[in-house]
This record gives sequence, structure tokens and C-alpha cells, in this order.
Amino acid sequence: MCGIVGYVGKRNSQDILIDGLKKLEYRGYDSAGVAVYTTDGLQVKKSKGRLAVLESKLGEKPLSGTIGIGHTRWATHGKPSDENSHPHTDNSFKFSVVHNGIIENYISLKEELIAQGHVFVSETDTEVISHLIASLYEGDIVKAVQKAVSRMKGAFALGVLTEYEPDKLVAVRLSSPLIIGVGEGENFIGSDIPAILEYTRNVYILNDGEMAALTRDGVELMTLEGNFISRELFHVDWDIVTAEKAGFDHFMLKEIHEQPKAYRDTMGARLDESGQKVVLNEVGMTPEQIRAIRQVHIVACGTAYHAGLVGKSVIEKLARIPVETDVASEYRYRAPIITPETLVIVVSQSGETADTLAALREAKRCGARVLAITNVVGSSVAREADDVIVTWAGPEIAVASTKAYTSQLIAFYLFGLYLAQTLGTVDEAYIAEVAAGLQELPEKVESILAQADTIKEIAEQVSTHDNLFFIGRGLDYAVALEGSLKLKEISYIHSEAYAAGELKHGTLALIEEGIPVIALATQDDLFEKTVSNIKEVKARGAHVFGIHAEGDAELAKVVDHTFAIPATLPLLTPALSVVPLQLLAYYASLARGNDVDKPRNLAKSVTVE
Ligand code: M6R
Repeated sequence: MCGIVGYVGKRNSQDILIDGLKKLEYRGYDSAGVAVYTTDGLQVKKSKGRLAVLESKLGEKPLSGTIGIGHTRWATHGKPSDENSHPHTDNSFKFSVVHNGIIENYISLKEELIAQGHVFVSETDTEVISHLIASLYEGDIVKAVQKAVSRMKGAFALGVLTEYEPDKLVAVRLSSPLIIGVGEGENFIGSDIPAILEYTRNVYILNDGEMAALTRDGVELMTLEGNFISRELFHVDWDIVTAEKAGFDHFMLKEIHEQPKAYRDTMGARLDESGQKVVLNEVGMTPEQIRAIRQVHIVACGTAYHAGLVGKSVIEKLARIPVETDVASEYRYRAPIITPETLVIVVSQSGETADTLAALREAKRCGARVLAITNVVGSSVAREADDVIVTWAGPEIAVASTKAYTSQLIAFYLFGLYLAQTLGTVDEAYIAEVAAGLQELPEKVESILAQADTIKEIAEQVSTHDNLFFIGRGLDYAVALEGSLKLKEISYIHSEAYAAGELKHGTLALIEEGIPVIALATQDDLFEKTVSNIKEVKARGAHVFGIHAEGDAELAKVVDHTFAIPATLPLLTPALSVVPLQLLAYYASLARGNDVDKPRNLAKSVTVE
């Protein structure tokens, strides 16, 4: 997720910008840059790579000036490169912009600007903003930004500087975070509080649809329509470490709470204006190529593999194409039957997992087309695949994957619908129903998160046990696997996920008095069968926590505790039912006093086979 810093005051802005960007490094980034207004006008320095690379460039020729903007980029549109790094400018070099978020309609805006004679030098959506503001400027930067923003669709936070008004910094927030720091004779902007905490503890938190004009002497807050707002200053008394986690105790908890945004961002412009049709411009397959697909192989590791298990059900149901899901470390060695009619989908949060990358290369060697679902633009997987669907979850810092998994599910739903649209395998009304259901998910996740305390109580009970089971059928089984992995990796409690109907073929022997069983029963058509399996473990003394869809009162009669997820289409339940399981793992780990974000023996990115 990109980081923004801005400064206007009396001090040397370059130092403050670099310092602020260092404080935002935890957000993840692949390039960095600053723009400073100097006696020679607006000067920009930027480069791919770590901040140290930028610092050494600045060391050779420092930028001297008391107003500037800085940025760490986490690539979305266009690979990490010097050209794609922010700040971006217009052709006259009089306007400079830093941006966090996505401009969904940037292609149409870019075409319009090119027709007016603007020349673009990067692949980014951000560069459109600097050109757009320049084209709308009539002597008032605040008004020009307001006009530009009224033309832009998407989620974004902006910092804007112009040489024409060199004492003013403009900040905008629409669904991407931005705060204003208020000092004595100096003011700041930042994506997050840590960026400015060394200089001031007084902040304004911008709400969606608000903007600010900053000079060294003051800050004006206003709506995007220009109506002034008065607001109390917020005094920050967190330390820097807490501030990095936005007040959450751990990155994992923060990332669990970021899921509604990750769902919205991943859907973004991929649903058209009617909200009923999927538009996947990033998938370059022609309808003929899609019709030629005879089988799909989904290949991934760990949590991404579990997302692939849901992906299998989604694609088979919507597109009626046979799908196999494989663990990447096994795939290559089982001599899979891959033909040019096979579509291989590799799923990887980091895009650098060695086994997944090796499977991708094997698939390409055999002539298959490869589609990557990844969270990191410019990663190895993204570069080597034929098509890439990026999950816009933002950087995931905790080793335990949460928002990346659920964003991968959203990507599978979108791709499944896209195939179905092209192949005509399900009727349009069902496509519209699934699309509508998808758009309701973020709010439903929020309502689950609001009940975190209930899950915490269950987790505290579970944390005293050394063994437990997760059971479910169909999609519930796929989610059970993910719930079990999450619990294992951060709480170190041994658990097994079982297809509920399979227990009686051996594993039922392990069920004894008091053993906790987490039973998922969200699938209407499998409900009664699952209830029978729950009764089998209850009869042997298990203590059962049941997860079911709201409005279904039956489960409570057979289990010890229930947790209801909001009702949705059965196909979409994994995107909700996994959330209580993530919280369960988190609170169980906490209760055991473990290092939640950095569990023992594990690494965030596994780059060895
Ligand atoms: O970066 P990737 O998605 O390729 O990583 C795959 C697995 O290593 C990863 O999902 C792992 O299982 C998670 N730590 C589980 O939370």
C-alpha cells in the first residue's frame, strides 16, 4: 500500500519527507520519490527500490526547499520502475501529485488528455491526475483539484503541489486513508500517523470525501465540493509501534479488519456500472480461447491453495469446466496432464513462492496458458504469467494470511462469473444475483467483525486444548482446512480439518470427551448431512462450536455454541465463514502468549522449494 507524506513549513522539507517515508516502510513498497519546490522551481527525484537508493540520489544533489511531497509506491498500475514511481508531474512540470489508491476510470481520462495533446511517460493511473489538474487549473489549485476529483472514479488519497502557488499543499481523501498533522508554523500530511508523529501529535483525520489546503500558517478543511468544515484536533497518545498498526495490537488483527476494504478494492472497477457484469480487462483471453479451455488446474501453496479449493467449486459451478486443485510442491512431480487446452491458474499472495513459480514454469513448458492471481504487481509470478488478476488487498505483513486469502476468493468469484458470461453456462439472472451478493459482502464482514468478542470467548476456551477438529462438507470443508491451518500456524494447537462425512472412516476414533470440534454448516443442501455428522461427534463427547448462516435455528439444537454469519448465497459463504475462524486463531494465539505476527519456524514468503 502506498505511503504519502507532505510538508509545508520552515524546515528543509526533504529531510522531513524521507524521515516520514521511513516511518511508513512497514506498509510495503517497491519504489520511492519526493518533489520539492526549490529556487529552481519544482524538482522531483524518484527511484525504484528501497528508500536508501533514493537517499543516495538525493545525497548527490539535495533538494532544498520548505514545501514538498513524498511517496513510497506499492505497484498497482505498471511495474516497479523509476518512471512509474511517484511523484508524477504534468508536461509543463508545474504540478506534482502523489497518490495512494486506484483511479478506476483512468483509461478514459487518459485518452481524453492524449487527445488534448498531453504526453504520458508512465504506465500509472496517477500520472493522469497531474495532467488532469494541469488542464483544469485557472489560478486556484484547490478549485482545480476539486474539478479533477469530480471527474475521477475509484478510491484514492492525494497530495498535490504546484509551482504556481508554492506555499500551498492540497490533500484529498476518498476511501484511502490520509491524515493532517498540525504543528507550530508547519503542517504535514501523511497516509498514516507514524509518518508525522515525531513532529506533532495533533492531527485531523480526514473522512471520505474531504480535502484540506495547508500552508505553513494554517489548515483549511473542506468537503470535495468546497464547503468548509470545522473539526476538533485529535491528540495522539500512541507510541510509534502502536501507530504503525493503526491502533490494533497486531498486524494480523489490523489485516483481518482491513478485509471489507480489500473486498471492495478487489471488486473495484471489475464490476460494470450496472453492478451485474464482470469486466476483466486484464485477462487477455479471447472468447474463442475461453471456449477452447477443456480443463483448469489451480496450483498454489498453503492458504492460497485453500483459496484454490474454493476456486475449484466456483469455476465448476459457474463455468462447468472440470477443475483440479493441486499443492504446488506436488504438482510438478506427479506428471500432470497439461495440454494447450489447459488453463493453469497459479495463486500466490507474494508472487514469489518458489514451488508455485516452479509449477507455473512447468505449466508454460507444457504449452498451457497461465493466469496468475497475486497480490504483488511486478512479482515473479505476475511477470511470468500470461494474464494477471491482481488482488488489491494491500501489503500483508503478518505471516498468517487473512486479507490475501479472502481477496483471492473475490478474484475467483469474479473470474468464475467472467467465464460464465462468456460461455453462457448460467443464466444472466444468476450472474446478477451472485454479483449483487458479492457487493454486499464487505458490509457483512463488518458485522462479523463487530462480534469479535464472542469469538474471543470461544478462542479462550479452545486455547486450553492441545487437539481439535474442524469439520464441514463441500465449501465448508474447504474453509475448515483454512481455519485449521490458521489455528495451527499461530496458536501451535494441533488441529485437523476433516470432510465431515469422512470422520467415521477412521478418525472418529480420536473423538473423546471434551475435545473441541468447530463444525461449519452453512450450505443449505448439505445441512442435514452435516448435522448427522455433528451428532456422531457429539455422541462421543465432543464439545461442538457450530457456524451457520443467519436465520437458521436448527443447528443450535445439536451443538454447544453457535455463531451465525450473515445470510448470503451458498457459493459466497466462504468469504464470510472464514472470518470467525481467523479471529479464533488470532485470539487463541494471543491467549497462549505467542508472537502472533511472527509465528515460530515460519516466513512470510517461502522462496525455497
Ligand atoms: O505468498 P503465497 O500466497 O504464495 O504464500 C503461500 C503460503 O506460503 C502462505 O499462504 C502460507 O500458507 C500462509 N502463511 C498461511 O497463513
